[in-house]
Amino acid sequence: MNINFLSQHEVSHKKVLLRVDFNVSFNKRHKISDDTRIQQALPTIRKLLKQQNKLILISHLGEPKQRDKQFSLQSVVKDLSKYLPSYHIRLVDDFQKDREIFIKQQTQEILMLENIRFYPGEQANDEEFARELSLLGEIYVNDAFGVSHRNNASVTQLPKLLPAYGGLLMEKEINMLDKVIHLPKRPLVAIIGGSKISTKIKLIKKLIDLADTVLIGGGMANTFLLAENFMVGESLVEKDEVKYAFQLMSDARRAHKKLLLPLDAIVEDHPDHETSVRNVKKHDSIRDIGSETQAIFGRQISLARTIVWNGPVGMFEDNRFSRGTEYIYYAITQNQDAISIVGGGDTLAAINHKEYLDRITHISTGGGAMLEYIEKGTLPGIEALKH
Ligand code: 3PG
Repeated sequence: MNINFLSQHEVSHKKVLLRVDFNVSFNKRHKISDDTRIQQALPTIRKLLKQQNKLILISHLGEPKQRDKQFSLQSVVKDLSKYLPSYHIRLVDDFQKDREIFIKQQTQEILMLENIRFYPGEQANDEEFARELSLLGEIYVNDAFGVSHRNNASVTQLPKLLPAYGGLLMEKEINMLDKVIHLPKRPLVAIIGGSKISTKIKLIKKLIDLADTVLIGGGMANTFLLAENFMVGESLVEKDEVKYAFQLMSDARRAHKKLLLPLDAIVEDHPDHETSVRNVKKHDSIRDIGSETQAIFGRQISLARTIVWNGPVGMFEDNRFSRGTEYIYYAITQNQDAISIVGGGDTLAAINHKEYLDRITHISTGGGAMLEYIEKGTLPGIEALKH
């Protein structure tokens, strides 16, 4: 079963429904803080425009339960307009009410539907809702890798109703992640951070299979440390997951894979000191990896030929605890012999606007989608494009 990718097919003079993932992050002043996802969709948008297609963009933003101004795509429209100055981008407040706007769409006009999650049919994966959407266009393109793990109407139903294509970003994401899953150049080193092990157990399990070395940092490392009988004081731990952490470590040992945990840490009350994980006190809260761990992780990263990184290794939002994550980032950018793939919302936020971003082979726009793709080798939205 094949996917028709836009790179291989000519789509011209059509009304195209383009599903994008413009679920960008905002800062406290409600300004877009990272528009990587918008920028990464530009090649597909530009290609379709160049071929004289009329575009109708579909995206979600956040998880609104109903229509809620806070989740409007207005700022996204503004941001996107910066990159496409010769086009007029109009936000369609309610496509179910305003049909005229689609009939009158001009060639220099791009229509963007207001947050598709304002419609209950989207997340309910409602067929009738998808049918209504499908009437707006002649062709469907999915460039929203980041949401393709969701069984939502605009992701998995629409491709059944219209001739469907994978966009350029979708194709790039699949090709790059396949380099991790199928015959990766070895050693393959995976760095997994973030706060919770519970959300990443399946991924870690899969990475123990795929990778030669798995480096664990961030809050989730505490649960592994506890499973190894270290005291972690008041650090974040998921007590219910300790047994799984223990199991994962036994799996790694049995498979002769390296699963490395932090050896030293920086704790909340002493941000200028480093503590061995053997000496964490009752009231300490681990916030970052220390320099010994940086050196050991850094060495593994320098030896890698394939690197996959998901999740910060410390509380990077606080400058006092961002050094570990920064170190991992720079170690990856220093290894130019390796294919490096970095993804996940927090990870992208941590490296946002950094120098040397071009030294990362691929920055995935997927958070959950990237993890699920590595676990399963496909996603519902990708399956739906197959014919
Ligand atoms: C993401 O941010 O990972 C995607 O846009 C999917 O969003 P969701 O987790 O709200 O479905």
